[in-house]
Amino acid sequence: MQITSFKQYEEDYKKSVENPEQFWGEVAQNFQWRKPWFKVLSWNFNEPNIKWFEGAKLNITENCLDRHLATNGDKPAIVWEPNNPEEESVTYTYKMLHERVCRFANVLKRNGAKKGDRICIYMPMVPELAIAVLACARIGAVHSVIFGGFSAKSIADRINDSQCKVVITADGSYRGNKQIPLKEVIDDALIGCPTVEKCIVLTHIRTPVSMLKGRDVWWEDEVKHVNDICEAEEMDAEDMLFILYTSGSTGKPKGVVHTCGGYMVYAGYTFSNVFNYQPGEVYFCTADIGWITGHSYIIYGPLSQGATSVLFEGIPTYPTPSRFWDIVEKHKVNTLYTAPTAIRSLMSYGEEPLKDKDLSSIRVLGSVGEPINEEAWHWFDEKIGRGKAPIVDTWWQTETGGIMISPIATVTPTKPSFATLPLPGIQPILVDENGNEIEGNGVMGNLCIKFPWPGMLRTTYGDHERCKQTYFSTYENLYFTGDGCLRDEDGYYRITGRVDDVLNVSGHRIGTAEVENAINMHAGVVESAVVGYPHDVKGQGIYAFVIYPEMHGEAELSKKDILQTVTRVIGAIAKPDKILFVSGLPKTRSGKIMRRILRKIAEGDTSNLGDTSTLLDPGIVEEIIEATKKL
Ligand code: PRX
Repeated sequence: MQITSFKQYEEDYKKSVENPEQFWGEVAQNFQWRKPWFKVLSWNFNEPNIKWFEGAKLNITENCLDRHLATNGDKPAIVWEPNNPEEESVTYTYKMLHERVCRFANVLKRNGAKKGDRICIYMPMVPELAIAVLACARIGAVHSVIFGGFSAKSIADRINDSQCKVVITADGSYRGNKQIPLKEVIDDALIGCPTVEKCIVLTHIRTPVSMLKGRDVWWEDEVKHVNDICEAEEMDAEDMLFILYTSGSTGKPKGVVHTCGGYMVYAGYTFSNVFNYQPGEVYFCTADIGWITGHSYIIYGPLSQGATSVLFEGIPTYPTPSRFWDIVEKHKVNTLYTAPTAIRSLMSYGEEPLKDKDLSSIRVLGSVGEPINEEAWHWFDEKIGRGKAPIVDTWWQTETGGIMISPIATVTPTKPSFATLPLPGIQPILVDENGNEIEGNGVMGNLCIKFPWPGMLRTTYGDHERCKQTYFSTYENLYFTGDGCLRDEDGYYRITGRVDDVLNVSGHRIGTAEVENAINMHAGVVESAVVGYPHDVKGQGIYAFVIYPEMHGEAELSKKDILQTVTRVIGAIAKPDKILFVSGLPKTRSGKIMRRILRKIAEGDTSNLGDTSTLLDPGIVEEIIEATKKL
């Protein structure tokens, strides 16, 4: 299933479009199924109703673990690098990982979890996180991993939305020189979560935690009560594998649902091809498992291909900005997959952190999560890849399950700041506002996909109508990505960013409506409007215009209060970078906030604001511009 030449890419692409069922049927033969499918694909984008590998039975963990045991049991599956470089790294071979996963799967069963139950995971980047995820999959429970940066309220909302029965967490996590009390956050969340019966707590930082009798149990105690034999649950290809919450243009995050068969095939196929993974190589994806990149390209993709996946607990700048390069040198990393925001941040330290670092093991580089600017692309290419490692700029989304548009390392060309060409099976099209296809090259439009692929979302948990409205109703018979896109003269795709009210801050998706809701919850705030603005490191920063007539004390203190409120409501990742107090917002006569104007002001481009005379209060624009000068 690995593509080895450009000619083969072209042939495979052609075949995947002309005969998708045959194409994906053949790719799927590279995986282990308990029972084959009777139909590769049935679909319509109206309902939407998408089924891949109908009738097939499998368990994804047999593909990620069991099938490697006979030949590769002693090969490293996960290499864990702790936050503190003084601590030893830990290697789990496939055999060890299999044993741990089976054992913990039995712990889940012992605590009442069974096939179909939803399980919330809120953990640090430790091997036990991967073990927890795989143990859920082993018994057919649906995991919902929540990123460690979300607040108690965000967690509670997500747990309640999918009625989780079990929560898996740790006492706390390390992040650079900080400690985060995860269990404490979970305790606050669980006050409002009546469906949760059990909470399994891993000891990691050994900070004091409260343990509620009857509900809370220690991971370490539980594993002693069970053995390590756990037959994998037989799953239907279309049974749910996991839910992952993601932000959209409304205030409420939605639970994107992925299913077992198609997701497995797509994560495995794309991993093997995009990174041109070769047996024995060490692959390092720096994402957090709390996001889709970690699901697909730390756990499921690499493990399904028998790869060695590095799992790093810490941050790129701790204890020094050399940390990534130390890890590359120490573990002889062959593929480094990271985010533009990390690249830009490390670039800002100059060349000193790279001095005397041996990066010669690097063969392939990858970028994900947001557009990579040319400067960062070239720095990554020259300083890290030494001009010899192809950069795969991988465009995809939580909803797509896996990489969609990207170079294939060593096989198809790269081009700075371009995601380049669609992978086999992916049929992108650009449309104008009315949904008309924009044909030819050298054009821009909204990016849609016109044919299903195995890794695509099937629904949004508990609200299928929302899935339909968000992705399949804007344009008839198309999946709408929410991204703007350029197709250049060579036919290469370049993603230009979101065209909806979604921000991309350090590669994290945040809805402006969510941040506004959080700010508006602060006592005294009457109204707010949030827009993105260009930020040197984060890609986009969050700019909040806030009406707060009766402040308590100084404005600076009130800003801090608002930040505190946002941290409580969503989490620290959604804190605005700039807050500007205003007496009004530019609105149309029908009361709609003119975000276009605010965006221009936030970008510092007030030269051409368009016609403001139709605004309810045209004078407010001048006032806001004046106020920004003092910020
Ligand atoms: O706007 C695109 C941007 O990230 C969005 C998806 O965010 P999320 O679901 O959190 O998944 C991120 C990791 C896959 C997209 O709609 N995006 C992602 N990758 C790229 C990108 N923008 C430009 N270039 C990319 N390579």
